[in-house]
Parts: sequence; structure tokens; C-alpha cells
Amino acid sequence: MIPSTLRKFCCLGLLLAVLALPAVSVLPGLSTAADQGASSNADPWEWAERDKWQRPEEVMNDLHLRAGSQVADVGCGDGYFTYHLAERVGPQGRVYAEDIRPDLIRGLWHQALNKWLVQVHPVLGEEDNPRLPRQRLDAVLLVHSYHEMRPHGALVKSFYRALRRGGLLGIIEFGAPESQPRDESYKRHRIPSSTVRGEITTQGFEFVKRQADFVVPGSTREQYFLLFQKPEE
Ligand SMILES: C[S@@+](CC[C@H](N)C(=O)[O-])C[C@H]1O[C@@H](n2cnc3c(N)ncnc32)[C@H](O)[C@@H]1O
Repeated sequence: MIPSTLRKFCCLGLLLAVLALPAVSVLPGLSTAADQGASSNADPWEWAERDKWQRPEEVMNDLHLRAGSQVADVGCGDGYFTYHLAERVGPQGRVYAEDIRPDLIRGLWHQALNKWLVQVHPVLGEEDNPRLPRQRLDAVLLVHSYHEMRPHGALVKSFYRALRRGGLLGIIEFGAPESQPRDESYKRHRIPSSTVRGEITTQGFEFVKRQADFVVPGSTREQYFLLFQKPEE
């Protein structure tokens, strides 16, 4: 057993070390759309512009998220969705922001501490293990990250384990022709919705709905949102 005073010193040391780190450069800025102010010729992937077509409020409504909910943003990247989720669930809720890149997770720690977002819990996962709590989450969300994940079977099982009964799994991806081989999805950054649907339902999830009207300005790529549920029984 580590004495409690020593534990407190370790935690304080970690906190100070994290606060001393510079924010990682991949973070395009942590202000929400409201802070940033959108302009018409801006990059559609800038957060304020992205809000217009990614429609995070609708996605979070579909995931039935509210104050106090517990949710995971898997493959969270620089945290675009993490901060929307944090605002929605509030300080009584919890957002597990998971990725396999230490620089991104370090950046999230830094920003979450700076902004006193006590509900954000950055998690450095492994390729085949997102290190989520068991049977606790109300929802798991993957935005443009599922296509990159392998081994996908192990990961889908881990999402199933992490969700409570009746919990929801949302996946947003760019579409691809049904004939596209699975291996292509890793390098082309797109995946047929039928492939995702098959891989998720094979692991026991029930399909709830498919929505396909997300359009990135200036792009012809189809983007879809698939919603699944862990059975109640
Ligand atoms: C294209 S980015 C999307 C980031 C973010 N979700 C967004 O929409 O802005 C894909 C992310 O998935 C992460 N990723 C890839 N394989 C992963 C795995 N096995 N487990 C967790 N994250 C993974 C990458 O490190 C990367 O940050």
C-alpha cells in the first residue's frame, strides 16, 4: 500500500507536470464554435465551420445524452467532439476521451485542466483496447476513427463491454462503394456503411438507424451516421 500522503504528492506532481506541457500543435484551438466566429471561406474542418455540417447537437440528441451522462469519444483526435460532449453532460457527467496517440492525449489533459473540465477523462488506449470502464457508459461515439481501427472485432467487443444495457453506439464515417475491400478502408479513410453495420451487429449490437445527410462543404464524399444499441435484456 502506498501511504496516502505519498499518493497525494504523486498526484500533485503529475498535475503540475501536465500543466507545464505546451498544448500540442495538432490542436486547432480549443474554443467552441461560439468563441471562434465562423467565416464563409474558412476551412470546413475548422471547428466553427465544422459545427455547421457535423451537427454535433443532433448527434448528441440521437445518443440521448444529457446532464450527468457518461460517454466515450473513441479515437477522439484533437477533441472536436470531446468538448461538445463535455458541455452536454456537464460537471456531473463524464467524457472518456480516448486515443492511441500520446501527444493528443497529453494535449487533452492540458486543455481539460486549463478549462477546469472535470468531466473530461483523457485515456491513452492501446490499439486493441480502449481501456474503458465496464458496463457503465450510456454511449460510445466514434467519429471518422472506426475505419482506422484494427483489430476491429476486439474493439467492438470492448465497446459492448463498456456500455450499460440499452446503451448506444454511434459511428460517423465517410462512405465507400460496397465492393471496397476491408483493407482499403485503412488507407482510403472511408468505409462502406454495410461493412460497418455487419461488423457491429455480428458482436451483438442491434441496428437502430442510418442517417446520411452530412455534407462537408466543397466535398462530394458521402458521410453517414450509424446508430446501434446494446440490447436491454
Ligand atoms: C481522423 S482522426 C478523427 C479524430 C476525431 N474523432 C475527429 O473527428 O476529429 C482518427 C483518430 O483515430 C485514432 N485511432 C486510430 N486507431 C485507433 C485505435 N485502435 N484506438 C483508438 N484510436 C485510434 C487516431 O489516432 C486518430 O486520432
